[in-house]
Amino acid sequence: MKNTILRIIPVALLAASFLIGMLTVQGYVVAAEHDATTQADPMQFSRGAQTWANNCARCHNMRDAKSLRDDQWRVAIVHMRVRANLTGQEARDVLAFLQGSN
Ligand code: HEC
Repeated sequence: MKNTILRIIPVALLAASFLIGMLTVQGYVVAAEHDATTQADPMQFSRGAQTWANNCARCHNMRDAKSLRDDQWRVAIVHMRVRANLTGQEARDVLAFLQGSN
């Protein structure tokens, strides 16, 4: 009995340190991904304004950025991206511009 416990302890310690190590690595990876995706793109707003000016008054009057809330613009851009034939990047730029101007 005593022998079994003595044999289990090092294995348990090894497993515990492995788990802690994995969690730490995972924490770093998540933090790095978070930084990459939330990093501000300083040109996005002006690119968005340009794309908006070039595309969003082709079919209807220019909608004032202040006419919709952030969440409403998100939905509108999902629809208008298809109508205006925008790339994903262009749609994200326009959305950033509109949400930053309302
Ligand atoms: C190819 C034509 C076309 C282009 C380009 C276009 N739209 Fe539209 N848009 C429409 C049509 C048609 C509707 C109304 C029917 C609908 O919702 O699909 C509409 C509706 C909307 C609405 C909803 C209006 C309301 O009062 O409910 C918003 C907001 C809007 N567009 C914004 C935009 C923005 C921003 C862009 C530029 C990314 C854009 N549109 C480009 C055709 C277009």
